[in-house]
This record gives sequence, structure tokens and C-alpha cells, in this order.
Amino acid sequence: MIFKSSTAVVPEVGEVPRHVAIIMDGNGRWATKRFMPRVAGHVKGVEAVRGVVEACVVRGVEYLTLFAFSSENWRRPQEEVSLLMKLFVTALEREVAKMHANDIRLKVVGDLSRFDPKLQEMIAAAERRTAGNRRLTVTVCANYGGRWDIMQAAAKMARAHPGATEFTEDQLAEHLAMAYAPEPDLFIRTGGEQRISNFLLWQLAYSELYFTDTYWPDFSAESLDLAIASYRNRERRFGRTGEQLAEKEKAL
Ligand code: IPE
Ligand code: IPE
Ligand code: MG
Repeated sequence: MIFKSSTAVVPEVGEVPRHVAIIMDGNGRWATKRFMPRVAGHVKGVEAVRGVVEACVVRGVEYLTLFAFSSENWRRPQEEVSLLMKLFVTALEREVAKMHANDIRLKVVGDLSRFDPKLQEMIAAAERRTAGNRRLTVTVCANYGGRWDIMQAAAKMARAHPGATEFTEDQLAEHLAMAYAPEPDLFIRTGGEQRISNFLLWQLAYSELYFTDTYWPDFSAESLDLAIASYRNRERRFGRTGEQLAEKEKAL
């Protein structure tokens, strides 16, 4: 099989990242530090999500992607998993109307087939209701894994081109779960760990990576501003040399 690379187009970049993707980590440790049950950290984490969504709207971020539950998180104690699912349901019940009123589109991506059918129906309804909204697209990655995403896209691509033995990157990318969004400009992981944990493997190829020790429940609009400030100070070269970029600046 021959795979043709299409990483030839250099994207335009602006002052504010168009797409911010976040691994919201550290809820459990935030709670443990306060002698509270881990789930208290998850509850507080939902509040942090609200704050960051608002901050993104104000700053003009177009896509915010949040890793809420990984395909590996089923390995957690049954009690924590079911509390996380309940939180997901309550958050949907409480937030969707507000999101809709603020012109926010909600998408949930991942292998949703493992979720309770009622939760699946709630997700589908929320997506339908907010589908026309354009100010900000919030994507919640639930039972998501980067490898799962690439594999499901590969399977769909093969079905779309019966008998084909040659494929391009674009042909695969159009079947990725988040094909509607540009690739993340800025990736943030809170909670001190410096790893990707099977998040958006394909799409993070050229994202700027930002790690902070701040636990997710403490992540505020100010924390987001620090991350964006760090992003602004980077030189995104996309394979080119620093000199080529300086030439381009001069030409503007
Ligand atoms: C992230 O916080 C939330 C989820 C994975 C659902 P954690 O629950 O992983 O918090 P720590 O890493 O144990 O502190
Ligand atoms: C990554 O956090 C997944 C989410 C934030 C949903 P984890 O806490 O599950 O990741 P590891 O286990 O530390 O890699
Ligand atoms: Mg964690």
C-alpha cells in the first residue's frame, strides 16, 4: 500500500489560537489534597469547564476540545466511573440551554456505543439542538482514544474506496471524529503530567504543547491567558527555517 503525504500546505496562524485542546487532569489530586473524595474534584472540574468555555467565547477561540473520559478510564473503580457518568448527565441537563443561548455548538466524540442508551440519546439531542451555532464549538471527548480514532477512520476510508491500495492523508483525515475542526493550535495539559495519554494523536502533529502543574479544578480564565501568552511567544515553523519566517514577516 502506498500512502501519499499531504502535509504540504502551511496553515495561517493568528494571535489567538483558533483551536485549543485540553487534557483536564488533576481532579483527583485536587480533592485528595483537601481530604475530599475524588469525585468532589470532578464536580469542581465541571465548574472549571464553565469558566474556560466563557473565557474562550470572550477571547474569540473558535474551537475548544476537552478530554473528559478516555477509553482507558474504564479501568478506574466502578464507583468512580458511574459517578463520572452521572456528572456527565447532570452537566448536559444544566448547561445545554445556556450553551445554546450563547451560540455555542456542542459536539461529543468518541466511541459512544458503550454509554447508557439514555445518555447517548441526550448527547444526540444536545448536538441536534446546537448544530447551527457558530460562535464557539465545544467538543467533549468521551470514551475517546487517539488510536481508536485513527482505526475507525481507516476502516471508513477503506469502505469509501473499495479495492483501493493507495491512500492520501486527506482521505484518512476526513473520517477522523473531529473532521469538522482545524487541527489544534494549542494543546494544554493540566495536573503536571507531561504526556498525551492517547488524546488526539493524529491532530496534534504540529500543535504547540503547554503543560502546567495547576490542577484542573483551579484552572481559570487567567490560567488560560498564561497558556495563550506562551503560545504567542512561540515561533510556529511547520518545518520551515526561522529565516524563511523572517522573510515572510518582512513581506507583510
Ligand atoms: C482528570 O482528573 C479527570 C478524568 C480523567 C475523568 P483525574 O481524575 O485523572 O485526576 P488525577 O490525575 O487522579 O489527579
Ligand atoms: C487523561 O487523564 C484523560 C482525561 C483527562 C480524560 P488520565 O489521568 O486518565 O491519564 P493518565 O492515566 O495519567 O495517563
Ligand atoms: Mg489523571
